[in-house]
Amino acid sequence: MRHALNAIAEELRRLKAVGVECVNVSEEGLRRLRAAQAGRKLPAVDAPPPAPAPSAAPPVIELPAGSKAARWAALREIVLNDPVCLSHVRPGKKVVFGVGSLDARIMFVGEAPGAEEEVQGEPFVGPAGQLLTRMIAAMGLDRASVYIGNIMNWRPEMPVNANGVQFGNRPPTPEEMTYCLPYLVKQIEVVAPQVIVALGATAAQGLLGFGAFKTLGEVRGRWREFAGKPLMITYHPSYILRNQSNRSKRMIWEDLLKVMERSDLPVSEKQRGYFL
Ligand code: URA
Repeated sequence: MRHALNAIAEELRRLKAVGVECVNVSEEGLRRLRAAQAGRKLPAVDAPPPAPAPSAAPPVIELPAGSKAARWAALREIVLNDPVCLSHVRPGKKVVFGVGSLDARIMFVGEAPGAEEEVQGEPFVGPAGQLLTRMIAAMGLDRASVYIGNIMNWRPEMPVNANGVQFGNRPPTPEEMTYCLPYLVKQIEVVAPQVIVALGATAAQGLLGFGAFKTLGEVRGRWREFAGKPLMITYHPSYILRNQSNRSKRMIWEDLLKVMERSDLPVSEKQRGYFL
């Protein structure tokens, strides 16, 4: 029990460190916490194990002919109603599809939605997403002018607590990413960005293939190709949230400077010098 309470305290400290200011606790949750603190045992509530990885074959997607907006809207409908995606989403939570400008020069790709994203149904809206939005602003852009997506369309499942609440995240499995990847490829086809930016090792593995590299250091900051587009791999913003040094910030910033140059964005002297 002490172990469980320590794990809860540790998770709350982690959430606080990344800017989460409040968490909801149900009456039943409070009852159990008080009982645990007082050393009383309550009957266990079975937590369902995480759902198995999708065994279904990855989707084959046919989009209607038409404008970018019509094709994107059709794709969004397909993803939001995909029975495999829906089967992995807990009641009250959402399948998450990409957002942003359909004329974006730059498409950012993360791994999978987290707690805030599955509530709002939008990628990168939690603490890492807020940092990504600030990084985009530092590039002289606003969030609505780029496109932001994930390889995965649902939050990878972990066991839930007695109240059905999932704490913590895990990286998606290769099978989960393989299932969702065609949806990202179609978004790339529709939006046709000049440059793709993969955020973090998991997203990079999802795009380049598992086993394509051992450490992110081997591939970050160098141009690759995905779906016929130049691909820059950099750190995930959550890495910067955990490593607030100017050195880490400068590394990710140098990758973004390359992205700005490749997508013909102006780069001022001030921007060149950030975090030096
Ligand atoms: N991390 C990701 O990779 N994607 C999100 O949407 C949120 C956090």
